[in-house]
Amino acid sequence: MDKFVFSQTTRTHAGEGIMENALREELPHFDKRVLLGYGKGSAKASGLLERVRGILEDCGKEVVEFGGIMPNPTYAKVQEGAALARKEEIGFILALGGGSVSDCCKMVAAQSLTDKDLWDMETADGLFPDRALPVGVVVTASGTGSEQNNDAVITNEELYVKRDLYGLKPEFAVLDPTLTLSVPMPQVMAGAFDSLSHVMESYFGKPSNSFITDELSEAVMRNIIRNMRRVLSAPSDTDARAQLMWDSALAENGLLKLGKKGDFQCHMIEHQLGAYTDCSHGQGLAVLHPVVYRHILKDNPMKFRRFAVEVWGIEASGRTDEDLAARGIDALEAFIAEVGLPSSFGDMGLRDILSLEMMRRIAQSTIISPGCARKLSPIEILQILRECL
Ligand code: NZQ
Ligand code: ZN
Repeated sequence: MDKFVFSQTTRTHAGEGIMENALREELPHFDKRVLLGYGKGSAKASGLLERVRGILEDCGKEVVEFGGIMPNPTYAKVQEGAALARKEEIGFILALGGGSVSDCCKMVAAQSLTDKDLWDMETADGLFPDRALPVGVVVTASGTGSEQNNDAVITNEELYVKRDLYGLKPEFAVLDPTLTLSVPMPQVMAGAFDSLSHVMESYFGKPSNSFITDELSEAVMRNIIRNMRRVLSAPSDTDARAQLMWDSALAENGLLKLGKKGDFQCHMIEHQLGAYTDCSHGQGLAVLHPVVYRHILKDNPMKFRRFAVEVWGIEASGRTDEDLAARGIDALEAFIAEVGLPSSFGDMGLRDILSLEMMRRIAQSTIISPGCARKLSPIEILQILRECL
C-alpha cells in the first residue's frame, strides 16, 4: 500500500425526497448572488428548474441562470459562464444536473476568480487554482462522482482534446434518487457503468497485491452490478437508484484510490474518443473495457483471477488461474450486453465517423497511463480502437 493523505470535505445529503430540506439547510451559508447552472433541456422540461429556482428565491437569493450546458462541456462554455459570473457579481454557484453541469460549474467557479487562462495554466504550467467560488451540486443524473471531487473533464474543441482540469471540491452535494427518475434508461446504464469503470480503473492499478482498498472496491463493484440489474427490471425502484448514486460518489471521491496509483487507461482513451466524436462517456467505456482488458490480461493474471471470483462469483475449483482470469472478462462483456450497453463503436453509431486517420489521431493524443498493468503504446491503442469498431 502506498502512502496517502485523505480529506473528503464535501457535505453530502443523501436520501429519497431530501432535496428541498438539504437546500434550505445549506443555502443560508452562501452568498445572495447565485449562478444556477443547468443542462440543455431536461431540468426545464421536468419542472425541476422552476422548483429549485423557487427554493432559492424563497431563501432570499438573487438568481442568475446559466443554462444550456452541454454533455461533454466545452472550454468555451466555461469561459461563457465565468464572464457571466463576473458581470453579475456572483458569490455562489449551484449546479443542477449530471457530471457535465457539475464539471462545467466547478471550472466556472475557478475561472471567474482569475484572469489567467485556466487551460494554459493547468496543462502547460502545471499550476492549479487555489481559489474558487463555492459550488453546491444537486445531482440529477449519477455516475461520474463529480459532486465529491475537484476534477472537471472539459473538451477544448479548438485543440481536439478532452481532459481533466482541476478546480475545488463542491461545498455540498445533494443525492436525491427521485430526481433521477426522468433520466432515459440508456443514460442510467451509461452513468452506472461509468461508476463501475472508475472502480475497475483503480482496482487494476498498482500495487496489484490486494489490501483493504481493493476489498472495498469489490463490494462497490458487486453493489453497482446488482443495482443496475434492479433498476433495469424496476425503473421506479428509488432504493436501487439511491444505492447507485452513493456508489457513484464512493467510486470517484478518492476513497477507492487510497494507497494506489490508478490505471485509468480506458478513461484516457475514451476521453480522446469523446474529443473527436462527442460520444457518451459511459457507453464509450463499456465498449473499451473488455477489449483493453484482453490486451493486458497476461500482465496481471492473478488480479483478473481475483476479479472473476470476488466480483463475478465464478467458481474457482477445477479451473486454472488463466481460465478464471479470462472468464472474469467474459462475465464483464456478457453483463454489458445484458444491460443494453453497446458492445462496439458500431453499436454507438460511430462506425461511419471513425476513419482510420481519426483513430490514429485519437491514439496519438491519448495520455498513456503509468498505473496500468502494462503501459500501452499509441500503436497498441490504435489496434484496440480498431478492435472496438
Ligand atoms: O442536458 P440535459 O437536458 O439536462 O440532459 C442530460 C444529458 O443529455 C441528461 N439528464 C441529466 N439529468 C437528467 C437528464 N435527463 C432527464 N432527467 C434528468 N434528471 O443526461 C444526459 C447526460 O448528462 P451528463 O451530465 O452529460 O452525463 P454524466 O453525468 O454521465 O456526465 C458525463 C460527463 O462527465 C465527465 C464525462 O467525461 C462527461 O463529460 N466525467 C467527469 C468526471 C469527474 N468530474 O469526476 C469523471 C468521469 O470519469 C467523467 O469523465
Ligand atoms: Zn468516468
